[in-house]
Amino acid sequence: MHKLTQKEVLKGLDQKNLDFYLLKTVNSTNTFAKDTNLNKKYLIVLSEEQTAGKGRWGNTWYSPDCGNIYMSIKFKDNTNQAPLSLLIGLLISEAMDEISGNKIHAGLKWPNDLLIENKKVCGILIESEKVSDEIELIVGIGINYALPQKESWWGDIGKFKKILPREKLINAILKKIISYKENGYPDWKAQWEKRCMHKNAEIKIISNNQKEEITGIFKGINKEGSMILQTSDGLKIINSGECSIKGIY
Ligand code: BTN
Repeated sequence: MHKLTQKEVLKGLDQKNLDFYLLKTVNSTNTFAKDTNLNKKYLIVLSEEQTAGKGRWGNTWYSPDCGNIYMSIKFKDNTNQAPLSLLIGLLISEAMDEISGNKIHAGLKWPNDLLIENKKVCGILIESEKVSDEIELIVGIGINYALPQKESWWGDIGKFKKILPREKLINAILKKIISYKENGYPDWKAQWEKRCMHKNAEIKIISNNQKEEITGIFKGINKEGSMILQTSDGLKIINSGECSIKGIY
C-alpha cells in the first residue's frame, strides 16, 4: 500500500500558513488537533490509523491502517459564511469530481454524509473549542477506501482507487477548504442542493433521542443549512437531527 507523503499531500499549498503532522498512528486526529496549539492559520493532521476514531453522536469511527483517509483541519472560526458542516461535504464531493474527471457521483445526504451507490463512504465530524476569546474549529474527515469489516450501510471507494488516488483527493480537499476559508463560496446553497440525493424525495426524520419521527418531502435547505420539509402540517424547518431516508440505509 502506498503510504502518504507530505510532498504529495501538500503539493501547491502555501506551506507558510500551515503546520502539518503526518502520523503513523494516533488515537484520533481530531483529538490530536484539539491538543495541539494553533500557531499558524491552519493545522492539518493526517494519520494512517486511528485507535480511537470518533464519529458523530459519540459513535466510534472504525479506523484500521488500510489506506483510508483520517484527517483533521483546525482553524479559527472568524467567518460568518455558509454552515460549515454542509459546506465540507459539498467541497469533498467537488474534489472527488475534479480528481476523477467527473466519474464519481457522490450524493449528499443532509446534513453532511457523502454516499456513493447508496452507501456512506465519508463521515465528517466538526468540533469546536474556545481558546482565549476565540472559537477554534476542528473539521475531521474520514473517507473509506477499504474496510475489512463492514456494516451493511458502509461503503468504500476502493474500486475508484486508480482514478481517485487518496493523496490527490486529500490535496484537492485541502485546497478547496482553504480556498473557501480565504474567499468564501457565494453559490454554496444551490450547489449543495444540486448534489443532494434526496431533493423532493419523501424522507423520514428521526430526532436525536429517537423519540420523534417526522415524514415529509425534502424541499431543500435555507441559508442557515436547515432543511425545509413539507409535511402534512405544512412546511417545517429542521435545524438539527439525523435524517434517515427510506430505502437508503
Ligand atoms: C461520522 O460519524 O459520520 C463522522 C466520522 C468522522 C471520522 C473522522 S476520521 C478523522 C477525524 N478523527 C476522528 O476521530 N474522527 C474524524
